Amino acid sequence: MTAPIVRTLSELRAMTRGWQRAAEIIGVVPTMGALHDGHLSLVARAKEQADRVIVTIFVNPKQFNTPEDLENYPRTEHEDAAKLERFGVDAIYVPDGAQIYPDGFATNVSVSGLTEVLCGAHRPGHFDGVATVVTKLFTQTSADLAFFGEKDFQQLQVVRRLARDLDLGVEVVGCPTIREIDGLAMSSRNLLLSDQARGRAAVLSDVMEDMASALTSGASIGDLMTEAKARLKASGFGDVDYLEMRTNDSLALIERAEEPARLFAAVWMAGVRLIDNIDVPVAR
Ligand code: PAF
Repeated sequence: MTAPIVRTLSELRAMTRGWQRAAEIIGVVPTMGALHDGHLSLVARAKEQADRVIVTIFVNPKQFNTPEDLENYPRTEHEDAAKLERFGVDAIYVPDGAQIYPDGFATNVSVSGLTEVLCGAHRPGHFDGVATVVTKLFTQTSADLAFFGEKDFQQLQVVRRLARDLDLGVEVVGCPTIREIDGLAMSSRNLLLSDQARGRAAVLSDVMEDMASALTSGASIGDLMTEAKARLKASGFGDVDYLEMRTNDSLALIERAEEPARLFAAVWMAGVRLIDNIDVPVAR
């Protein structure tokens, strides 16, 4: 079933008002398009939990750090709509810039603390851009439930915090990372890798899995760093922006797996920045 593509806030509101009158639960899956199976797993989960499902597609200029990155971001609206057909979603909301940031837009949503580490430390302003657009998308869609992947775990925690702090009335549902057969976390940015770089990129998840199991066996992250970085370098990775273990809730840096934590990485492969994170079971 082809879902209606809705391009304006007024059309969207006309739909959601009816759903709200009928006390239907509205689920939203915010995306920037270039949909892959990771996004589609969020849509499947939304279909299970909500009466009405809206997928949003908006490449948000406020969360990019360079004009080239924004320019190169894949845009595949036609293919995205085709991929959504089998799910029977109720609307695909594809606003243009003016629907989200009308002339004179002057508001910035900023979550402190959680955004100062990991990607926040390397991408100034990125999480303000995410927090601002997500707040707009939540209010525009009148969402009751919102579905985000754990692939962007820091983003998930930032969104949970802003939804709670601002009483947005949205329950944020985190869903597991979906991986390619060789372990590479699915990401729209994987499309930017050449075949050769794509082949090598899976080493990242192998290195992280090995580190996580050593951490759970009691090693400290400092013990593992030299070898992990050498393996990445030997596989063609460039700069490592970070490779750190942090607690799940507050994202505090830790050395040993003594509390619920995740291992986080951001590394460059052939000019593409790849991020990943995995659970580190508490050391026995
Ligand atoms: O994860 C993404 O695709 C984006 O950061 C989001 C949440 C759609 C906001 O633009």
